[in-house]
Amino acid sequence: MEQNIYILAIESSCDDTGAAVMCNKKVLSNIVAQQEIHEAYGGVVPELASRAHQQNIVPVVDIAMKKAGIDKNQLHAIAFTQGPGLMGSLLVGSSFAKSLSLALNIPLIAVHHMHAHIFAHFIEEEGFEKPQFPFLALTISGGHTQIVQVNSYTDLEILGETTDDAVGEAFDKTAKILGFPYPGGPLIDRYAQKGNPKTFAFTKPKVADLDFSFSGLKTQILYFIQRESKKNPDFIKENLEDICASVQHIIVEIIMDKLKKAVEQTGIHTIAIGGGVSANSGIRSALKDAETKYGWKTFVPKFEYTTDNAAMIGMVGYIKYQAKIFSDKEVVSQARMEF
Ligand code: KG4
Ligand code: ZN
Repeated sequence: MEQNIYILAIESSCDDTGAAVMCNKKVLSNIVAQQEIHEAYGGVVPELASRAHQQNIVPVVDIAMKKAGIDKNQLHAIAFTQGPGLMGSLLVGSSFAKSLSLALNIPLIAVHHMHAHIFAHFIEEEGFEKPQFPFLALTISGGHTQIVQVNSYTDLEILGETTDDAVGEAFDKTAKILGFPYPGGPLIDRYAQKGNPKTFAFTKPKVADLDFSFSGLKTQILYFIQRESKKNPDFIKENLEDICASVQHIIVEIIMDKLKKAVEQTGIHTIAIGGGVSANSGIRSALKDAETKYGWKTFVPKFEYTTDNAAMIGMVGYIKYQAKIFSDKEVVSQARMEF
């Protein structure tokens, strides 16, 4: 019989402090403390994020351990996010993980945050199927926009990524222009569902190969809103649903164009999406359509494993534990990290 491996995982790459306890590929607990302090600033403030991580990390780990119902002496390893992310935030998680692994005398496992978003699909969860290798992973969030070809746990290749803003930023920055609080992506989605996506036309950026660019679109939307609001001060209020629907429509089209290109290029029809933006209703319905239209097989993990969370770090921790890939205590956090 397979031995039960218990891993405590820590995630602190951006503004969420996460701790999870895994038993093999199953999640025993997955706790996230979201930092509301950034709302007032319309975006994540790095200094405030690392300070909040310092306050949150001990209680979050404590709750995760209690909820999992195991004692710290039962742990086999500590996994943590090495990067990429905000340096001050990463340091809080790595220092904590290092100290605990040293105190308990158990292995330390450094995890690449983007690998974790991808392998979140392998968490065992009732009602959720796992993609088969090879597959294409689309990770879309406030910090990432990436298409990766995943051939195995260790053979991953980035096919395309953003050259400037992430797709979540395109949503959030548009939301800010419209006067929504941060992060406004979910609100755009909500209004978009009642609007007509064909009302306002925006142009797609021309970006080579499978890379993305969203900063030009954001400027285009800003100028459009400023121009129209000059003519009619109530323009936003009177057209909110149609503006949101049109913006969402163009963003979904940009993503789907690149995905189609990636499928053509690789011949791989299995698509696994992750990251906070994968909650978007427009993306989800476009992917469903692609299943019937092009015969794709698409996978979306349980929502709590798509946004930043520690369970996905624990999942990679388990894969690395099985392969005995451990880190020594000198391992350093990396704001930018090779894939
Ligand atoms: O993965 P996540 O929680 O954090 C990181 O950025 O790593 O993703 C958050 C992003 C934000 O930009 C948020 O506005 C966006 O995901 N988001 C959405 C939706 N839900 C979350 N964007 C569009 N539609 C949604 N339904
Ligand atoms: Zn992330």
